[in-house]
Amino acid sequence: MADVSLTGADLDRAGLRLDVDGAVATITLARPERRNALTFSTWRTLARIGETLPADVRVVVVRGEGPSFSAGIDLRLFSAEGVPGEDTFGARDEEFIGELQAGYLWLRRPDIVSIAAVRGHAIGGGFQLALACDLRVAADDVKFSMKEPALGIVPDLTGTKPLVDIVGVSRALELCLTTRTVFADEAARLGLAELIVPAAELDTAVGELVAAILAIRPTTAVATKRLLRAAPGNTLEEQAAAERREQAALLRELSAGRA
Ligand code: ACO
Repeated sequence: MADVSLTGADLDRAGLRLDVDGAVATITLARPERRNALTFSTWRTLARIGETLPADVRVVVVRGEGPSFSAGIDLRLFSAEGVPGEDTFGARDEEFIGELQAGYLWLRRPDIVSIAAVRGHAIGGGFQLALACDLRVAADDVKFSMKEPALGIVPDLTGTKPLVDIVGVSRALELCLTTRTVFADEAARLGLAELIVPAAELDTAVGELVAAILAIRPTTAVATKRLLRAAPGNTLEEQAAAERREQAALLRELSAGRA
């Protein structure tokens, strides 16, 4: 089996902090002096966090230190000088991109609920990281923008599916091809955030949401997420069958618990 152990040095290099407190893991993008710009090691380390997460973690909060959630890819990766210790951008194949996508994909796993706590800018790869989470709680100074097309590239960090699922194809196209900024009011209207709160109340609002989720029985929460995540791809009949399956399993478990 591959060595997936994660050291403090790995996290530092990736510009990340990880705090695990019982059932709650908090991942902090921790390069505020660069507005939490993301590098290849950030994405690879995020993937390793997913692989090494303790089994009893039920909620993962992703937050950014400082005024911005994340200004997206570290633009120095596009320059000749690059970022010390990082690969350069260059021509990259699908396998390489797949390794980076793994940093975001695990946030949809049914055994956890992931919450992005977004303040300030969430640009490009930062916007896609927020979209990778199940839920977004945003401060009223939030600024979402899908900047990739302005750099000649497409959003490729798993963000196009949740964006289209939330806002529809036409609005997603307009947002991506204008790369314009979506501010708090519009973000609320479009459903890009489940909750918009005054910036000073962001941490409290996230804490309350975490507490509400943890109050639900673990297997019930897992079954509910699995069921809802499957719904958009299912016909009504398939979804009704999935509801029966999940419910019957839960009822078996609940009655075994009472026995
Ligand atoms: N990559 C590298 N460094 C960055 C990035 C970035 N994406 N974003 C900000 N920084 C650095 C700045 O260069 C600056 O460094 P300096 O202090 O050494 O000059 C520092 O972070 C602070 O940034 P400012 O621009 O001074 O902060 P401000 O609050 O005025 O603006 C903003 C923030 C709007 C996020 C601005 O920095 C910006 O537009 N950044 C670039 C965003 C971008 O285009 N990202 C790529 C998206 S596409 C993708 O992710 C695939």
